[in-house]
Amino acid sequence: MHDVTAENQRLVDLVLDYSRRRILSSDTPLDKPASPAELTRLAGRTIDERGIGSERALSIFEHVLAPACITTDHPGYLSFIPTAPTKAATAFDLVVSASALYGGSWLEGAGAVHAENEVLAWLANEFGLPDGAGGVFVQGGTLGNLSALVAAREAARVRAGLAGVDQPPRWKVVCSAEAHSSIASAARVMDIEIVAVRPGEDGTLRGDAVRAALDEHGASVFAVVATGGSTNFGIVDDLASIAALKAEYDFWLHVDGAYGLAAMLSPLARDRFAGVEDADSVIVDPHKWLFAPFDACALIYRDPEAGRRAHTQHAEYLDTLTETADWSPSDYAAHLTRRARGLPFWFSLASYGAAAYRDAITAAIELARRIADEIRRRDGFTLVREPQLGIVVFERDGWAKADYDAWSAHLLDEQRAFVVPSSHDGRPNTRFAILNPRTTFEQLTAILDGMG
Ligand SMILES: Cc1ncc(COP(=O)(O)O)c(C=O)c1O
Repeated sequence: MHDVTAENQRLVDLVLDYSRRRILSSDTPLDKPASPAELTRLAGRTIDERGIGSERALSIFEHVLAPACITTDHPGYLSFIPTAPTKAATAFDLVVSASALYGGSWLEGAGAVHAENEVLAWLANEFGLPDGAGGVFVQGGTLGNLSALVAAREAARVRAGLAGVDQPPRWKVVCSAEAHSSIASAARVMDIEIVAVRPGEDGTLRGDAVRAALDEHGASVFAVVATGGSTNFGIVDDLASIAALKAEYDFWLHVDGAYGLAAMLSPLARDRFAGVEDADSVIVDPHKWLFAPFDACALIYRDPEAGRRAHTQHAEYLDTLTETADWSPSDYAAHLTRRARGLPFWFSLASYGAAAYRDAITAAIELARRIADEIRRRDGFTLVREPQLGIVVFERDGWAKADYDAWSAHLLDEQRAFVVPSSHDGRPNTRFAILNPRTTFEQLTAILDGMG
């Protein structure tokens, strides 16, 4: 299995050939899931003592398994938060695997860590964070939010200890009621309490509402999470008014920009994020609007030392790594072994330059505005909220949840688009999450036309 044999050479050629075709294809169908019974019937048994051979295994992948996976980089994939990796980023993901890089420590992966850190520093600078801000690429926004909040609580514990005050019976984090579900997940893992504050009618969490929560819950609040682009609507909380409270209250400000913070690269949206420069930590997912493949979340601390103190693992077998001042990415989140998952984004950014990213993000915002105008213009459609970034939420007047379900299933069955139902305040709706530069206005209007 490990030697360079004729059989292994053929196998590598097969895999690279498949990858090449897939990366360069512009007409991969949307595809759709199949039932377990159907997949068992079509794929047969693939694991036995002798092996079925690489040719057969790859053929089963290509003809049975891959078609049962929705093509997430398809321009008609408009659900959840899509992904649209660049050709450079996708191709370089192969290099990361081929090179067996270890991205956890400086000792083992200095070159890879150096490049990842250059990207993190570049992002930090875009967000207005001070020199010295830094962090690590983790698996996704969920782990990024959890790791940031763990660091925040650790800082609060240390502060309480130094001040000689008792820790609260239960630590609390304040966030918008429209914050991403991963904040509640982090709270469950950390056994802390969420103070969910109702945002304004427009979905924006503002300083006055946060102030009321801080007054009510006092010193048990160790962090406030503001969202830089909510998942359902792409709404950016009023970061400046929330950050201003740091002058009066003692809390760690974390900005969850998993989806939206990338929009700061566009002059069309940059101003919406004023105040992010005062955050203690931020996240943004390159696998969302920074056009990198799954999976990568950039977690950046204003003071990386706070992350290191909270997360470094200690053991005899790790002393070689932890008894140095080297920058080891493992030290900055709840993980140890890690893929150098920031490298595909690094390679793409280095290849195409930042301006190409600014243009692609700007184009998505423009398209979102254009289709929102179209929805507003059409009889029988209601725009639920004005889009701020690339997400457009709308209702087809009179439709119940079952109507959206049937329409959405039909769209996918016909392989035209993947647009799932959503809801707001108990009312069913649907949404276009636009970020793929290959998505066109005509594709979107054709979907609207199909809604009768
Ligand atoms: C605002 C926000 N935060 C966090 C997450 C979680 O990110 P991930 O799915 O990468 O864990 C998402 C995912 O859509 C998100 O939109």
